[in-house]
Amino acid sequence: MDKTFGHRNRHYSTSRLVFWSTIFGALLMYIVFRSLRSSDSLDSSGSSSTPLHTTAKWGGKDWEQSVQISAHPRSGSHNSVLVTGAAGFVGSHVSAALKRRGDGVVGLDCFNNYYDPSLKRARQKLLAESGVFIIEGDINDSELLKKLFDLVTFTHVMHLAAQAGVRYAMKNPNSYVHSNIAGLVSIFEACKAANPQPAIIWASSSSVYGLNTKVPFSEKDRTDNPASLYAATKKAGEEIAHTYNHIYGLSITGLRFFTVYGPWGRPDMAYFFFTKDILKGKPITVYEGPAHASVARDFTFIDDIVKGCLGSLDSAEKSTGSGGKKTGPAQLRVFNLGNTSPVQVTRLVNILEGLLKVKAKKNVLPLPRNGDVLYTHANISYAMKEFGYKPTTNLEAGLKKFVKWYLDYYSVTS
Ligand SMILES: NC(=O)c1ccc[n+]([C@@H]2O[C@H](COP(=O)([O-])OP(=O)(O)OC[C@H]3O[C@@H](n4cnc5c(N)ncnc54)[C@H](O)[C@@H]3O)[C@@H](O)[C@H]2O)c1
Repeated sequence: MDKTFGHRNRHYSTSRLVFWSTIFGALLMYIVFRSLRSSDSLDSSGSSSTPLHTTAKWGGKDWEQSVQISAHPRSGSHNSVLVTGAAGFVGSHVSAALKRRGDGVVGLDCFNNYYDPSLKRARQKLLAESGVFIIEGDINDSELLKKLFDLVTFTHVMHLAAQAGVRYAMKNPNSYVHSNIAGLVSIFEACKAANPQPAIIWASSSSVYGLNTKVPFSEKDRTDNPASLYAATKKAGEEIAHTYNHIYGLSITGLRFFTVYGPWGRPDMAYFFFTKDILKGKPITVYEGPAHASVARDFTFIDDIVKGCLGSLDSAEKSTGSGGKKTGPAQLRVFNLGNTSPVQVTRLVNILEGLLKVKAKKNVLPLPRNGDVLYTHANISYAMKEFGYKPTTNLEAGLKKFVKWYLDYYSVTS
């Protein structure tokens, strides 16, 4: 009896063990499956809290050779520049301009899908034709940065990679922390450790002026009222820049761009998607402030921004650190790069209607309080004084060039 009972008891324990192992195994599989699914869904929903999908491909003899050839300046008096965000709107234009004048340029971009990556690939193709190699990788990849700085003695880093866009910050806040804060620190760390240290020029934003009402915006104005997480990450970047300059002697120049537009632009920006929607006969939403106040922007044409980037780079002093230690005070600057003539968004629509020869269907709605501000206007006297910055393209002329590019790129027949 006992034996049987004993045997039965053993049998009971074994089946209990099998039962619980199965449950445990299934639970484990469920957790793994769930976590895989949630990371998969990032790209499509955009509502997750991790970085956008990217693929990193780097390393190997051919890769190293491509980097070194691309970084090689035309002569000893030219620079070797690492441009982050080189497949982006501003980065691709700046890379092309640096290369044209004889500087060696290596690009770095993660080609994420915040907007149509095929546009980034098309920019990459054009740059490749002019001899600029873009490394596919993330600015947070410190191993990649270390390898890069071992391979090339960069004189400058033009850091333009970032998560841009004001409204998207409500959908995917962590992508802003990943690229604009952690990524910036990663770039500063690599530059700090390099010997000699490069001078750094990086893109902040006019959005740091946030809810300020005193216009035009001057670099001396307070910037502690950010209206979006995007603005807050750029403001944080400016403070982080201060510490790396102060502790490690890095020469750092921050550029506050004001609504940049032009050929090869960003599809998430109003002038771009207005053009697309007007051509399709789709209604566009035009925002207005309280009491029907017009929304206006200091729209700045890409060629003027490129001139500002190159002017800042050429007037940047060398970093003073060595072996990760500061040996003397280093330059720390912040410049507004705007056009100094704000234009109402309704006027922008009128210009587009004229250029596209199509009347826009407009929905006028109150400006939502999700990050956009009513008005931007740059005071550019500091950049003018330091390196002769002087924008020359008005909105009509700049949009004409944009529309020409748009119709050609998307093969729109009028
Ligand atoms: N365009 C504007 O009106 C404007 C205004 C103010 C500031 N800015 C700033 O200027 C810079 C350039 O803007 P843009 O309009 O060319 O934007 P963009 O999105 O076209 O370019 C940014 C590029 O950075 C890359 N990138 C993002 N995160 C990265 C990461 N972690 N690692 C590697 N690459 C990464 C993206 O793939 C993209 O190609 C950004 O710093 C932006 O915040 C732009």
